[in-house]
Amino acid sequence: AKILLLNGPNLNLLGNRNQDVYGSNTLADIERSVSDLLQRHQIQTEAYQSNHEGQLIDRLHKANQKCSGVILNPGAFTHTSVALRDAVEAIDIPVIEVHLSNIHNREPFRHQSYIAPVAAGQIIGLGPTSYLAAAYSLIQIIQKRGE
Ligand code: DQA
Repeated sequence: AKILLLNGPNLNLLGNRNQDVYGSNTLADIERSVSDLLQRHQIQTEAYQSNHEGQLIDRLHKANQKCSGVILNPGAFTHTSVALRDAVEAIDIPVIEVHLSNIHNREPFRHQSYIAPVAAGQIIGLGPTSYLAAAYSLIQIIQKRGE
């Protein structure tokens, strides 16, 4: 089985960007810790980051053919993108929405997620551990299905 780890805009800057909000881990650190965890359960990781809405949508469409689930941090598109939401809704595999920060204790414009109503679940506010919790959940889904 394979899982898509998909990160949206500005997450390539992790490690430098707003360290007080997002911590000092780089995206490469997070991708490594997720793929190490999945590897221990014989699951492959495909990691991809883009600053472009359409490329994120294309990746979700492709994942529908070849992956068993998606860990998605949509970045600011969380709060703006009906198109990304429609892509999540259109595919058959479970998508877990993650955020490093607790979007509910930040600016009001971050409180709404267009993705949450169509995601399998949402994990927020735990820093890089948000991604690991999502990975654990997908491991369980995959094992239950016997993939
Ligand atoms: C984020 C939260 C978003 O509001 C913000 O635009 C990001 C990062 C998070 O992981 O905490 O880019 O998705």
